[in-house]
Amino acid sequence: MKVIVAPHKEEASDYVASSIAALMSTDRSVRIGLATGETMVSVYQELVQQLTIRGQCGMGYVETFNLDEYWPIEPGHFGSFAQFMHRHLFSHVSPWIQRSHILRGDAPHPNVECGRFQSLLAERPLDAQLLGLGVNGHIGFNEPGTSFQSRTRKVMLSSSTKKRNAPQFPGEMPDYALTMGIADIMEAKAIILVVFGSQKQEVLTRAILGSVSEDCPASILQTHPNVTIVADKVAASGLSHEHENLSLTVTTL
Ligand code: GLP
Repeated sequence: MKVIVAPHKEEASDYVASSIAALMSTDRSVRIGLATGETMVSVYQELVQQLTIRGQCGMGYVETFNLDEYWPIEPGHFGSFAQFMHRHLFSHVSPWIQRSHILRGDAPHPNVECGRFQSLLAERPLDAQLLGLGVNGHIGFNEPGTSFQSRTRKVMLSSSTKKRNAPQFPGEMPDYALTMGIADIMEAKAIILVVFGSQKQEVLTRAILGSVSEDCPASILQTHPNVTIVADKVAASGLSHEHENLSLTVTTL
């Protein structure tokens, strides 16, 4: 695991956006897994700026897959992740992205929808997956206790996750979500986990230095061969060069 520590979320977002912009500007086909949440707002803002400054698209075919979506929800609902993506990224960078896939929050049969998405992922493995971190260690909507073998499926949202996401959701939040499973996330060739703020400091330390356990879904990332964690200084304050070993490096920007 590579940990990149930036002074603030601005520099961290800049670092993540550069990596994604470089991928999106290549001449080959790339598939990128995207995430939502407060953390991604500044990352996408920076990505939009960087792509706009670059001014030309690569010759490749860029396809994106989102991690999760509330259920049931209309894709046009302001609180849906479909709308989040439209507002913060897709509407600004349409020339760079040829196709985007988001689980349908209005699917009448969630199992069928999850199966469809799962088949797409199986056919088109992700080159990179962007991830945020829940304060309880969740990734996507895979809450503590989720099996590491889990696949794309409908899940019930925990009350703590609903409370945490409420500021970004007008009205009453749905009780369920559709999410990529942990096994799906782990199949991405590279994973970039982005973590900001003091509230995530304890969980980030546990995810990286603690035991690999289903009690902390993000801890599975310790077993992935290509993970970069980009954190601001406060979130990364539990990690230092002292913790470095053969599989963990800490670089300060
Ligand atoms: C949400 C999403 C995750 C997101 C995480 C962190 O519930 N399902 O995909 O990465 O929690 O969110 P935030 O960045 O708002 O802290």
